[in-house]
Amino acid sequence: MVAEQAGDKLMAAKIVVVGDFNADLVTYLKRLPRPGETLNGHNFLTGSGGKGSNQAIAAARLGADVTFVGRVGQDSFAEIGLKLWQQENINTDYLVRDFENPSGIATIFVGDDGENMIVVAQGANLKLSPADVDEAVSAIARADVLITQLGLQFETVAHALKVAKEQGTVTILNPAPAGALSPDVLALADYITPNEGELRALTPNVDAAADAGIEEAARSLLTHDAQTVVVTLGANGACWVQRGGSDQVPAFKAEVVDTVGAGDAFNAAFAVALAEGKALPEALRFANAAAAICVTRPGAAAAMPARAEVDELLSS
Ligand code: RIB
Repeated sequence: MVAEQAGDKLMAAKIVVVGDFNADLVTYLKRLPRPGETLNGHNFLTGSGGKGSNQAIAAARLGADVTFVGRVGQDSFAEIGLKLWQQENINTDYLVRDFENPSGIATIFVGDDGENMIVVAQGANLKLSPADVDEAVSAIARADVLITQLGLQFETVAHALKVAKEQGTVTILNPAPAGALSPDVLALADYITPNEGELRALTPNVDAAADAGIEEAARSLLTHDAQTVVVTLGANGACWVQRGGSDQVPAFKAEVVDTVGAGDAFNAAFAVALAEGKALPEALRFANAAAAICVTRPGAAAAMPARAEVDELLSS
């Protein structure tokens, strides 16, 4: 199912994100610390983060009708997300408030070169259950695309993909942060979208650093003919691999300030583009454009681009 044409007006793409929310505590510093070191930062911000929530916000800014299925605590950190989801008109009917566990927290360092280190205390994210996903089955059935990541229990991720497949909804698995998954879970994803490190974690037996290693590793994830693996390559754009072919789509040039959330911008834009019926190379170009804008700004959710900005970069 893709977003339908109603008269001359394209109906908004419907996206369900089953994912994590974290409050991001971000310190900017000259360079990333080594073990045992104490360094001074030169800037600090508290912001809305978590790969799932970032993707929900990015998809909404790109014009999609978004439902976020997640779990947050009763603390003030949850309020950061709640405020933003409301501002972005994201449907939170299936968001669970957890009375026993705190909201997820990500402690993030960003060096002046734009590189980052992230440590997540997952809190309530780990309590999002398959039963919580079942509550959202009607929204999943109405959606064009469901996207999920690995900031949750893998059992919940697998269940979300299974429910979406049963409802005829296109599935994207963004296997981030890195983890190992069984072929039967991978088989539930129409699109699998690792970065290079995540690809290595999924394919420990393939030397992804060798010549042609990325394509070989990506190809080894394919479990059926209708599946696509998209590997994000940072400044080199993204490549896709299917049983019938492969290709690379170059990145847009960008002045990098902060790469936190770039993968989320990419995945959200990719989901929106697919839901709008764009062909794969066009969808990846759209996703590369969203990521290129995201890296020019500090923060995660705060850096997600609006539709007009992406359209402008694509037409420039
Ligand atoms: O992808 C970026 C996100 O990863 C951050 O917002 C942080 O919360 C971590 O989950």
